[in-house]
Amino acid sequence: MRTQVAIIGAGPSGLLLGQLLHKAGIDNIIVERQSGEYVLGRIRAGILEQVTTDLLREVGVGQRLDAEGTVHHSIELVFSGTRHAIDVHGLTGGKVVTAYGQTEMTRDLMEARSEVSLPTVYEARDVEVLDYDGEHPRVRYQKDGQTHEIECDFIAGCDGFHGVCRASVPKGAITEFEKVYPFGWLGVLADVPPVSPHAIVYANSERGFALCSMRSLTRSRYYVQCPLDDKVEDWSDQRFWDELRLRLDPEMASRVVTGSSIEKSIAPLRSFVAEPMRFGRMFLAGDAAHIVPPTGAKGLNLAASDVKYLSGAFIEYYKEKSPAGIDSYSERCLRRVWKAERFSWWLTSLMHRFPDTAGFGQKIQEAELDYLVNSESLSRSLAENYVGLPLNFGER
Ligand code: APR
Ligand code: PHB
Repeated sequence: MRTQVAIIGAGPSGLLLGQLLHKAGIDNIIVERQSGEYVLGRIRAGILEQVTTDLLREVGVGQRLDAEGTVHHSIELVFSGTRHAIDVHGLTGGKVVTAYGQTEMTRDLMEARSEVSLPTVYEARDVEVLDYDGEHPRVRYQKDGQTHEIECDFIAGCDGFHGVCRASVPKGAITEFEKVYPFGWLGVLADVPPVSPHAIVYANSERGFALCSMRSLTRSRYYVQCPLDDKVEDWSDQRFWDELRLRLDPEMASRVVTGSSIEKSIAPLRSFVAEPMRFGRMFLAGDAAHIVPPTGAKGLNLAASDVKYLSGAFIEYYKEKSPAGIDSYSERCLRRVWKAERFSWWLTSLMHRFPDTAGFGQKIQEAELDYLVNSESLSRSLAENYVGLPLNFGER
């Protein structure tokens, strides 16, 4: 087999890149380790920046998003038993975020790919990326008991944090930066109406962090900070609902609609960046290159901006015969990635209880929260990062 761009991974990064390349007339094949059903079964993010929703519309998959997505003009911060609204829309000159599940976005992209019969190899085993530092990269995999090989011009590593692409780069050619946080998030998905249908709620209580989000007007997504050694089986639904309400202000707590969880899981929080994001003719995008703590809702949106830059680079190469985009891809992505890492680290540090920073650290956190909700400039800083910085932010 031969193609122009071989994409490893059929998550949001790989699927969105595939559609952007198809729209530009650039051939691509996606090679995915799991089945399509398995990919769709992952419960992940749900808040889309304007950059991401614009990209989905650009590739023609904005219909369900526009019909079922819920637009948010503000977020709310709860601390010291009081709730404070941050007018994101007003502070950013009209920008918003949209609540729309990653699962739904992935489904829309899968359907769009299938409608134009683009090749996706699911359940590919033992995927290898070969000769990417030469002129003729190849992808090799096993399927149905046979060895298959794809010759290509470029490889897009959209295979997530545990993928094969970054792992195939020699240790001396890559630098990894990591910070692991001393707690996790227990997340619950339930088919109950969200307590706050038009604003994500972030709570910092003496019992720990909590977050109130949604997937639709009938499906809610909630999280509470928990110790890293907690197990899901330690948390009955009742214990979860009681703990969530204890972390909210009394008025909001009284309005929480409870119900049986349809998904319940604990995830650790980490910040991670691999540099560079390009190795010869192989390019990393999305979780393959970076991880953010979920606090700032940046993971899915960074994946989208990576593949927007990458698709533009390939279009320049093929249509304008210019290597400029591929040569600047890594530096351009990392400038945006590190600003998102900073914002996610800042918001995580501001809203969570850290076991080792009681006393002075706690007082600083309280002072910063009080300053934030009373300072238009700091609120504007939060708002412009929350909706996502422009793709060309800071570029000369
Ligand atoms: N070969 C082929 N496919 C692979 C391999 C491999 N060796 N390893 C992993 N994959 C696949 C995974 O099965 C997954 O479907 O690559 C895909 C990577 O998808 P994601 O992990 O979702 O990463 P990405 O597409 O960058 O999306 C980032 O997903 O994890 C969330 O919070 C993250 O919202 C963010 C988004
Ligand atoms: C979610 O809906 O899963 C979500 C929302 C906001 C966040 C993190 C996660 O900051």
